[in-house]
Amino acid sequence: IDITWDETLAEKGGYDHFMEKEINEQPQSIKSALAGRIENGYPTIKELDSIKDFIKNDLEKIYIVACGTSYHAGYSMKYFVEAYSNINISLEVASEFRYMNPHVDDKTLVIAVSQSGETIDTLEGIRLAKQKGAHVLAMSNVVGSTIPRESHSVVYMNTGPEIGVAATKTYTAQISILYAIAAQIMNWKGYYTEEVKKIISELELIPDIYKEILSKKDHILELAREYTHYKHMMFIGRGFGYTASLEGALKLKEISYINANGYQAGELKHGPIALLDESFPVFAIVPFNGLREKMISNIMEVKARKARVIAISTKGDEKIKKITNEYIEVPKTSEAISPLTVAPVTQLFAYYVAILRNLDPDKPRNLAKSVTVE
Ligand code: G6P
Repeated sequence: IDITWDETLAEKGGYDHFMEKEINEQPQSIKSALAGRIENGYPTIKELDSIKDFIKNDLEKIYIVACGTSYHAGYSMKYFVEAYSNINISLEVASEFRYMNPHVDDKTLVIAVSQSGETIDTLEGIRLAKQKGAHVLAMSNVVGSTIPRESHSVVYMNTGPEIGVAATKTYTAQISILYAIAAQIMNWKGYYTEEVKKIISELELIPDIYKEILSKKDHILELAREYTHYKHMMFIGRGFGYTASLEGALKLKEISYINANGYQAGELKHGPIALLDESFPVFAIVPFNGLREKMISNIMEVKARKARVIAISTKGDEKIKKITNEYIEVPKTSEAISPLTVAPVTQLFAYYVAILRNLDPDKPRNLAKSVTVE
């Protein structure tokens, strides 16, 4: 195995925990992840050059196979590609995919997303896909790890080591690179519209946007203080906000042990709303987009059950401020970019809740950074 970073880089750098350091590193880690991969609003991922003909002429199906946070990053890619092209993506949790009869063949691209490159379910998933003739593209942060070694093509994340068990900077790097890969595929398949180009150009603004969001950390700490004693929380969103809510809930449950789940806001009425009362706060993710009005209705339904509502909304959204108990504003971007703007907020929220509960966020109970046995 080739180790591409040195020991000093892996220290805490003045922060109390690796997780805190890694959250704060994101302006830089996104920059490194995207270096040389976007130019003038166009993707330039040289690792994909060798499969350009396959993508242009043969590709019929795309699967994304991943676990945990990597799966959530894959969710955003699926929504992005499906929103801006006629290409469908099947997204599968690796532990399911490996025991299914996935309909992959030699016209299928399987994208295996794995920070560590060692997750056993993802590894077995790609072995199955290869047997069935698919082209496997791995995305990993660890050079020379098993999944990249066993894949046909590899895109490395270049974000430096991530020590905290809960993935933070690698999640945002995954989304950024997966969007660049998505854009490359859409470009080769004839779907490179001005809207796609705008979204890809906005990726380059993320490091500055992150500096602004991270400067609000005291506000997020104060907010976390209000929520440390709750036993449950729900995260809701629609569209890209839904993918962000899945990851927000996972971060909170992983390190603070508060029971948290992400739901499509439209699904509240089909079950989850029965849980809500004053003891069950709801985190609502409300980017300024076509579904904002629907989210406002959902927030009103939640409030009618006396549940507290924290919203992540875009700057200047006065209406959301008025109808929620707490809110955090993030800069306005294209909707597709919102999982990236929401992430540092939900990461810091989970981090502070864990600290305030006297838990070690770097070493959550029962979890491992890399799961190499089933
Ligand atoms: C473990 C980690 C998670 C991670 C998941 C997938 O459960 O605790 O943070 O998201 O594995 O890991 P991978 O390395 O395949 O991305």
